[in-house]
Amino acid sequence: MKNYIAFPRIEGRTSRQAHANLPAGTYERELGKEGFFGPATHMYHRNPPTGWVDWEGPLRPRAFDLNKLIGDQASPWDAPAILSNPHVALRFWRVPQKMADLARNADGDEIVFVHAGDGDLYCDYGHLAIRAGDYVMLPRGTMWRIDSKTPMTALLIEATNGSYQLPDKGLVGPHAIFDPAMLDVPAIDEAFLGQQDAKTWRVQIKRSGAISTVTFPYNPLDAVGWKGDLAPVRINVADIRPLMSHRYHLPPSAHTTFVGSRFVVCTFCPRPFESGADALKVPFFHNNDDYDEVLFYHAGDFFSRDNIKPGMVTFHPCGFTHGPHPKALKNALTPAKPATDEYAVMVDARDALQVGDLAEGIEWAGYVDSWKSPGK
Ligand SMILES: [Fe+2]
Repeated sequence: MKNYIAFPRIEGRTSRQAHANLPAGTYERELGKEGFFGPATHMYHRNPPTGWVDWEGPLRPRAFDLNKLIGDQASPWDAPAILSNPHVALRFWRVPQKMADLARNADGDEIVFVHAGDGDLYCDYGHLAIRAGDYVMLPRGTMWRIDSKTPMTALLIEATNGSYQLPDKGLVGPHAIFDPAMLDVPAIDEAFLGQQDAKTWRVQIKRSGAISTVTFPYNPLDAVGWKGDLAPVRINVADIRPLMSHRYHLPPSAHTTFVGSRFVVCTFCPRPFESGADALKVPFFHNNDDYDEVLFYHAGDFFSRDNIKPGMVTFHPCGFTHGPHPKALKNALTPAKPATDEYAVMVDARDALQVGDLAEGIEWAGYVDSWKSPGK
C-alpha cells in the first residue's frame, strides 16, 4: 500500500470494530480510499447518509433496464455501449442465433458474461459449450463466434488496451473463491473439427473502435492443436465459493473475480447472512471515493435494493454516499431470511465512466429517489 499519512483516532461515540457493535441509534458510513484497501474512516451518523430530499446536477445515481433494449446485433461490435472510460467498456449484447461473421477485438481482452441462454462458442483455440452465468475471458486478438441454442444475452466487459488477471487472494491463498484448476479452456473436439469448412468466412476486427472486415476463402478457425499458457478461460458463477465471515460484513473487494488495468470485476453470489448478534447484515453505507461503481444484476432477489430485477444495471459514480435501500436497512441486524439469493456482476472503475447513448425509456429516472423511505 502507498505510504499514506496514517493516524487512526477516535472522536466521540464510535464502535472500535468496523461494521459491528454500532452505537445505539446510529448509522455507520465508511469513507474510504483505494477501493476498500486504503485509509478509511467509519463515521456514526444520527440519520441515514442517503436521506437526501432533492438532487440537482449530473452526478446522480443511475439505473438502466437493459431488458428494454430490443433487437439483436449481428456483431458484438454493434452492441450498445452502456458505460465506458479509456480503460473499460461495457456493452449489452442480444446475441443472434448464429453469428454470420467471426469477431476479433484488437482493442483489448474481452469478458463475455452470459446473462441468459446457452450455445456454443468457437474460437481459434477450439470449442466451448457456454451457458448462463459463464464468464468467458477472450484474450485480445482471439477470433471467435457464437451459435446460440436458446436466446442469449451477454454483458461484454472490454479491458481496453489491457489484459485480465486473477486477483491476489492474499491471506486465503490461491485456491479460495475458485481454484484456478476450475478454469475451463476450449477443446479441439469433434464439434470444432466439424465446423472447419471451405466456405468463405469474414472476420470483423475492432481496433480503436473502427471495424475492418477480412475475408478468407476457408474457415480460419482451422487449428488442429495448440500449446501454451494463453487461451480463453471460462468459469461459471455457480463455481464461485464466496468468502464470508459470520461476524464481519466483508467489503465488496472480497468478491473480486478478475482484475483489469484501473478496474476490477467482482461477483456477488448467494451466501449466508452474518449471524453474529452485533454484526451488520447488509452492506454498510459508504463513499468509495476513488471508484465509480457499476452493478449488473444477473439472477435472484437483490436483498439490498428494492425494485431491481435481473437484466438491470446501476451506476454509482464516485462522489456520493450509498448503501442499502430502506427495506433492507430495516433488517440490518435481523435479516428476514438466512441467506442471500443473488448473483450480480460488479465493475469498479478508477476513472470516471461515461454513460452511452441509450435508447429512451431504458433509464429508471426515479432511481435517485429510491432511498427515500416509503411515504416520504
Ligand atoms: Fe458501493
